[in-house]
Amino acid sequence: MKEQLERIYSLAVADIEKAASISELDEVRAKYLSRKGEFNEIKKNLKNLSDEDKRTVGSLANEITSKLETSIKAKHDKFYQIELNEKLSKEQIDVTLPGKFIPQGKVHPLTSTTNEIVSILQSLGFSVVESKDSPEVETEYFNFDMLNIPADHPARDVQDTFFTTVAPNVVLRSQTSGAQIHVMENQKPPIRVISPGRVYRNENINARKNNFFHQIEGLYVDKNITFGDLKGVLNEFIRIYFGASRPTRFRSSFFPFTEPSAEVDVQCIMCGGKGCKTCSGTGWLEVLGAGMVDPNVLKGVGIDPEIYSGFAFGMGVERLAMLKYAIDDIRLFFNDDVRFLKQF
Ligand code: DAH
Repeated sequence: MKEQLERIYSLAVADIEKAASISELDEVRAKYLSRKGEFNEIKKNLKNLSDEDKRTVGSLANEITSKLETSIKAKHDKFYQIELNEKLSKEQIDVTLPGKFIPQGKVHPLTSTTNEIVSILQSLGFSVVESKDSPEVETEYFNFDMLNIPADHPARDVQDTFFTTVAPNVVLRSQTSGAQIHVMENQKPPIRVISPGRVYRNENINARKNNFFHQIEGLYVDKNITFGDLKGVLNEFIRIYFGASRPTRFRSSFFPFTEPSAEVDVQCIMCGGKGCKTCSGTGWLEVLGAGMVDPNVLKGVGIDPEIYSGFAFGMGVERLAMLKYAIDDIRLFFNDDVRFLKQF
């Protein structure tokens, strides 16, 4: 039996020697060391031996199987390491390969300018009106009548305003000022709101004019609001938007819905006030219109002008963006040329 064990052992050693892969080693292990393997068959017959033989043959069998286990494991580990190295080198990532180019979108300059203006005005205490108070399709009532713009005012002329076929009095709004009326009809003072949005005018399109553009309207109504408050808020807005070093100027003007009215200029960003083509030699650029809310407008929406007063302002987003970024043609905002849009 001892000889039988030694014979099988040398066969097993030869088989282990021959095995060329992990799976071949697994076969060797199954052949010799599994429950149905050759050594177990021999161990089954131990019971027929004398006690002394049982001990010597048994311990030899154990010694041999553990030697085989050890050498199979050693070889298995070697193969495993080799296979792992092969796999790792095959799956190596070349970190120097250039990545895939994914074109990245950008926020449109009119959107970022609007966001910037809105956040400045929010920091000064204004909140944005709900969209229901700022519709782009308006009735003449909100766009003109309630803003103290009489029926024969040239602003109503079909030249300027887009009328619709919905009804004779339904227009595409020509200004965001109608939002003032929506808000004052629905809210009691104190009111401190802004309303950004698109407006439409029947213009011949050129470098300075488009038939739609964007405005931001502002309204502040409370007790004891004065022209000093108007100046303070708008000076602060311009200081933040254009930078502290740029002087402003308030020029007396006229709007039907404000009295008194003013236009606000900022010192020309191109020539610094010396006079150039951009500012037509004046040294100043107009940035917004403003004024104290006309008592007639307050009366119209049921706010007592003896108790309350307020100021309003309106600015063009395209104009403010053009002044800040020295853009000389309004059409650039609307013809989707990525070479232009990419710069912001
Ligand atoms: N709605 C005016 C326009 O489109 C701008 C404006 C001027 C708005 C004065 C105002 C204001 O609220 O007080 O030209």
